[in-house]
Amino acid sequence: MTTRTGMLVLAGLAALASTAVSAADQSAQVERGRYLVTISGCNDCHTPGGRQVAAAIPEKDLLIGVPVGFQGPWGTSYASNLRLVINSMSESQWLAHARQERLPPMPWFNLKAMTDDDLKAVYAFVRSLGPAGVAAPAYVAPGGKVNTPYIVFVPQVDKQQAVTR
Ligand code: HEC
Repeated sequence: MTTRTGMLVLAGLAALASTAVSAADQSAQVERGRYLVTISGCNDCHTPGGRQVAAAIPEKDLLIGVPVGFQGPWGTSYASNLRLVINSMSESQWLAHARQERLPPMPWFNLKAMTDDDLKAVYAFVRSLGPAGVAAPAYVAPGGKVNTPYIVFVPQVDKQQAVTR
């Protein structure tokens, strides 16, 4: 083997090694994203059945948005289809998008407090699932006509309770 060929072989091996490392890094990042999404409750609102189904929901059905509104003084909001939102943007767009203020009951302050690395892991996980489903219904302003089922987020005072106090 000439020196030149030897160097080429070495360069090739180094390139292969770095590809292998980055693939391993990537799968660790996806795994961390899966973990973060699970423990931070995103599925509670963004996955159909996320709050109601005790059995594990197949990954292909995660985070596709829910067409049941959350109604309160802010109007009626819908948990977005994160599979479509996240798969439509670059990682740097996601970092900015994820930190924006949102309507209740989205815990946007929790997402805003995530480190860049955590947000990138959530991004990698949702990208690994790919796009699926349809966009969630559009936000309806207070007093507007709502065409879907919705959950009312208003504190209730039981009449009986009010009398006996
Ligand atoms: C209690 C319900 C709830 C939980 C839990 C929740 N979300 Fe949301 N999320 C919403 C609602 C409702 C909206 C729509 C808010 C709006 O219209 O401003 C939303 C919007 C978003 C958006 C904006 C998407 C767009 O339309 O551009 C992102 C990103 C998001 N959520 C990510 C997450 C992630 C990641 C988690 C887990 C850490 C999470 N959410 C947990 C209810 C929730």
